[in-house]
Amino acid sequence: MEVVICRSYDEISKAAAKEIADLLNTKPDAVLGLATGSTPLGMYKELVRMHKHDGLDFSQVTTFNLDEYVGLSPDHDQSYHYFMHENLFKHINVPPQNIHVPSGTAKNHKAFCAWYEQRIKDCGGIDVQVLGIGSDGHIAFNEPTSSLGSRTRIKTLAKQTIEDNARFFKSAGEVPIYAITMGVGTIMEARKLLLLANKKNKAKAVADMVEGPVCTMCTASALQLHPDAMVFIDEDAAGELKMKDYYKWIQTKKPGAPKSA
Ligand code: GLP
Repeated sequence: MEVVICRSYDEISKAAAKEIADLLNTKPDAVLGLATGSTPLGMYKELVRMHKHDGLDFSQVTTFNLDEYVGLSPDHDQSYHYFMHENLFKHINVPPQNIHVPSGTAKNHKAFCAWYEQRIKDCGGIDVQVLGIGSDGHIAFNEPTSSLGSRTRIKTLAKQTIEDNARFFKSAGEVPIYAITMGVGTIMEARKLLLLANKKNKAKAVADMVEGPVCTMCTASALQLHPDAMVFIDEDAAGELKMKDYYKWIQTKKPGAPKSA
């Protein structure tokens, strides 16, 4: 796992967007795995800027989102369909038929989940998966104790997640209790993972993910087993890392890094 400690949220967003732009410049028909939440918003803004000003082309791109609330229709302003449309899709040239977000309103959830998994395979697998992290260490909606081999399915949200996400709804009572989410096993099959985290409230989850044991109590810890996982964090989110100085040292010694005195 490569831990990159950035000076600001802006730097996290730009570094993550650059990873995606570099991929699209070498593989224009790449398959992107996308995430919601407040953390990737800056990265999406940067991708939109690159599309509008630098001609970054999404015309051959396919996307798969991690998760969706069960019961929210795509036009609900807190659905992840709506989030993605407002913050990314409507500003770039990705063909609508290439966009996949799990359905929160499918009648047969089990069949939908199996279809979603198959569709990822049929599209050649995910090249880069963007991830945030919940304050309880979850990735997508894989709450603590989710199997590290899990596939796309319905999950019951943890109380902590409902409280964390209540800020986007009128009250905690309005946050859906169930979500449809890619599994940890599904996420781990992506060829590259980019996890973004900022702010102090993520410091413990980040430390558990990077330096804790690989275990279901922090599903993000599965990233330790991935051959190509990058973690972009700010100083606040890095606050509880024991090996923080080492991660910084590594970055200064990378080829092309600015040489310090
Ligand atoms: C939700 C999403 C996750 C996201 C997390 C953190 O639970 N399912 O994919 O990583 O929120 O969100 P935020 O970035 O707003 O802290």
